[in-house]
Amino acid sequence: MNRQKKIEVAPSILSADFRNLEKAVKDVEAAGADRIHCDVMDGHFVPNITFGPMIVEAVKKCVSLPLDVHLMISKPPDYIDSFCNAGADIVIVHAEACGESLAEILSKIKGHGVRAGVTVNPDKAVGLFLPHLENIDQVLIMTVYAGFGAQKFIPETAEKVRAVHGAARARNIAVDIEVDGGINAETAKLCAGLGANVFVAGNYVFKSDNYKERIEAIRASAQSAWIQ
Ligand code: DX5
Ligand code: ZN
Repeated sequence: MNRQKKIEVAPSILSADFRNLEKAVKDVEAAGADRIHCDVMDGHFVPNITFGPMIVEAVKKCVSLPLDVHLMISKPPDYIDSFCNAGADIVIVHAEACGESLAEILSKIKGHGVRAGVTVNPDKAVGLFLPHLENIDQVLIMTVYAGFGAQKFIPETAEKVRAVHGAARARNIAVDIEVDGGINAETAKLCAGLGANVFVAGNYVFKSDNYKERIEAIRASAQSAWIQ
């Protein structure tokens, strides 16, 4: 799939007000978001539980933005079909949860016409998925440990952005590099300067009373520092 990389902002509904999820996602769409990030947690791979395909399907009906579905679950292969059928546009799996089946899982996602994303937690090496880079549409660099919103950005994780960006450039692969966890205008700028182009933000966007200002702040500071 040939697409031009650009700076994108993906508000995470983990920090949205679920009493009125429809309004929350429509408001960030109107405020200029490029995607909606959906954090799926199973209480097993991570010690927190959020939601499954039903909520993804509901969000899909509310907005026309692409849905970026981050699966923090123990058995990704068992749930690929249901998240793809629910309307995911990008499905991101944790390589440490996939083991030897990563290649097979990536092709299963792509078989649905859905873009395939891969990530690892901060204590796991990007080497777990780098050999598969040719078959990955998006790499997600976790800048906090998966499991909870509103955590503090871990500066050491940013080096992984540089490593993936360098590997992609050396192999001439146009992979999106997304960062997730503790992202605000400042940390977005730091990551963009190392090669990241997609920015997930939960707390920074949804806990503000001006979504547009926050989304634009991320976009502007990332744009100013981005190395393509
Ligand atoms: C962490 C999630 C993140 C999180 C980001 O497990 O993957 O997407 O919601 O939230 P903030 O931006 O609040 O760190
Ligand atoms: Zn996430």
